[in-house]
Amino acid sequence: MPKQNDKKQNNQSVQDLIKVLNEDLAREYQAIIAYIVYSNVLRGAKWMQIAAELKLHAAEELQHALILADQIDYLGGMPTATPKEVKLSEKAEEMLRFDLDNETETIRNYRTRVKQAEALGHYALAEQLRKIIVQEQEHQHDLATALGIDVPNVLPQGA
Ligand SMILES: [Fe+2]
Ligand SMILES: [Fe+2]
Repeated sequence: MPKQNDKKQNNQSVQDLIKVLNEDLAREYQAIIAYIVYSNVLRGAKWMQIAAELKLHAAEELQHALILADQIDYLGGMPTATPKEVKLSEKAEEMLRFDLDNETETIRNYRTRVKQAEALGHYALAEQLRKIIVQEQEHQHDLATALGIDVPNVLPQGA
């Protein structure tokens, strides 16, 4: 049986995990909103294909948000109701660039989250996060391709 102190420490770790998962959830809300808005304001033949792609991204981000909210609830937390801020622009390239930067940031965070979840013995959560990462990498790839640039490196946090 864990000692009282271990238990306290573990509780604090779970609270910390809930806090960062809520930041992930806020980023998923941001992504849903950005993809809905951007897919509708991208104009011109050049962007038609990626605009359609962004609508698919929006639906996938919604699935991610549902998974995260579920996991936060399971850990005993309250899912946040507040998205991170969505930047707007008149320029198509700029909007796609915002999305790309957010996806890169999201992947970086989820990679850290997998390690944190495993360190606490939450292996099912780690598996869910890995599946989400695969889709985020596809999003990142779609955006980089539309912008005609290389897929950015995802450097570890603090690097
Ligand atoms: Fe997502
Ligand atoms: Fe994404």
